Amino acid sequence: MKKAIRKAVFPVAGMGTRFLPATKASPKEMLPIVDKPLIQYAVEEAVAAGIDVMIFVTGRSKGSITDHFDKAYELETELAARGKTETLKIVQEIVPPHVTCVYIRQAEALGLGHAVNCAKAVVGDEPFAVILADDMIDDNHNGCLSQMVHVFDEWQCSILGVEQVDPSETGSYGIVKAHSVETNLGKVDQIVEKPKPAEAPSNLAVVGRYILTPAIFDKLAYVPRGAGGEIQLTDAIAMLLHDEPVLAHEFHGRRYDCGSKLGYLIASVEQGLKHHEVSEQFRDYLKGLSLD
Ligand code: UTP
Repeated sequence: MKKAIRKAVFPVAGMGTRFLPATKASPKEMLPIVDKPLIQYAVEEAVAAGIDVMIFVTGRSKGSITDHFDKAYELETELAARGKTETLKIVQEIVPPHVTCVYIRQAEALGLGHAVNCAKAVVGDEPFAVILADDMIDDNHNGCLSQMVHVFDEWQCSILGVEQVDPSETGSYGIVKAHSVETNLGKVDQIVEKPKPAEAPSNLAVVGRYILTPAIFDKLAYVPRGAGGEIQLTDAIAMLLHDEPVLAHEFHGRRYDCGSKLGYLIASVEQGLKHHEVSEQFRDYLKGLSLD
């Protein structure tokens, strides 16, 4: 029988050092792009892909994420009393009623692989998605994960969301070597975490979207610390390749690396230009800027 993807893991326990001091007391995933935090874009993408169990792997200072997806009685009562019906609706519709949110604590930030492994008991023995909220992807349609779930429906194996990066940037990503099986889809032969450009097997980078079979947990259980002294998801995927097929899906859409200052600023400008309330005025403002 074909399996479906019902659960998504959101690792949100990183230190977010590139955004200090903004991330000293508040998680990187709560940084807003225009008027929504990054983590909400990620959850909306998962909902659009048909997922109904959201598993957040949280760390220190992550209370605001729990609060964001929780009911806010005081705020809702206040908005209702002031007759702010539209705003109330926005607040109430952050999570659709059929969605369950589960929170797991990663006691120490030991790496992305470790964070994913923390979700093992809740994921259980079924395939699942992983979304890194700081990689925001806008595909003007149902979202990147929805594209990947579609591929999973047919292939029933692990799938990595990938895109071509500038060869000089391979040191910031997990890089795959894959051979094509159909348009925008390749079978992964090799995966390496953060290779130097001269050692990279290609310029196809894994970005923050994964569909994984539960076999990944067997690998995560004993994968040694890798790049940066962290337990790397990439290293566990490299082990998985020996046992199972893993596909690389070149998704459609625009990815913003919101874990970096420049990527975050670009996302804010481009999404501001698309926002229904401010797009026109913001465009006029930008046109009027005299940049040297
Ligand atoms: P990053 O590599 O972006 O690390 O993590 P970071 O700590 O968040 O940010 P910088 O590099 O210090 O600025 C990629 C994703 O994995 C999560 C992060 O929250 C982010 O979504 N992560 C990373 C964890 O949940 N736990 C970890 O131990 C490490």
